[in-house]
Amino acid sequence: MPADRIYYFENHNRMSREAADIISDLMIRAIGSKAVCNMVLAGGTTPVNVYKLLGQKTTRRDDKPTPDWSAVNLFLGDERIVPRGDLDSNLTMVQSSLLQHIPQFSGTINFPDLSVNDPMKMAAQYEELIRSYFPKNTRWPLFDIVILGLGTDGHTASLFPDVSLSNPGERWVTKVTSKFAEHERISLTFEAINAAGTILVLVSGKAKRNIVRRVIDGDPSLPASRIRPSEGKLFYFISDL
Ligand code: 6PG
Repeated sequence: MPADRIYYFENHNRMSREAADIISDLMIRAIGSKAVCNMVLAGGTTPVNVYKLLGQKTTRRDDKPTPDWSAVNLFLGDERIVPRGDLDSNLTMVQSSLLQHIPQFSGTINFPDLSVNDPMKMAAQYEELIRSYFPKNTRWPLFDIVILGLGTDGHTASLFPDVSLSNPGERWVTKVTSKFAEHERISLTFEAINAAGTILVLVSGKAKRNIVRRVIDGDPSLPASRIRPSEGKLFYFISDL
């Protein structure tokens, strides 16, 4: 599915500033219309600067309105199954790049419980936690915003090229074991991601020039090509190509 908007930037900093501004505006709009914003965060390294800038939008500096973080529920789009506090953990990255820049963060941050020793149970427990934020019998989670990255192998979240595309149980969260990944993972499923209001894919670096073109062109062999919101919008933020 073609993207609704593709933003190109000559460098990562400009992309990060624009992405943070647009995400902030989307958050404010969600909170304004339904008093809450449910936002999924990507892992990896590309979003780090975006999160820092977003977290710093707590004080009205450029007289632009800022999100009311107390009305924000944050969710990890995926997580590596590593010990709590491990530098490879996406939660560790989110805490250091976003949460520590928000004074008295009083929203919620939701993530898989890494202390659960069975990855299947960890996935099921995280799904139940996410479900608790939506009306009972909701078929797919209606996240307002989903932020994703893109791997050089065309993966997004932890949906790698060797991950099964079938989801007969209509799961929102799945356990992932992949030869493309160092760790076992927990990830939102394609369907759970595609139910979002707005999906933003952040891509930086010349190493991703070819893969992002193939994804945008809809190469069916690439997992990220399956990111196409059922009713929402799909934005790409691309820099340093
Ligand atoms: C993860 C991410 C993953 C990431 C891409 C891009 O847990 O690794 O969720 O999908 O977004 O691998 O990673 P970089 O931003 O580090 O290039």
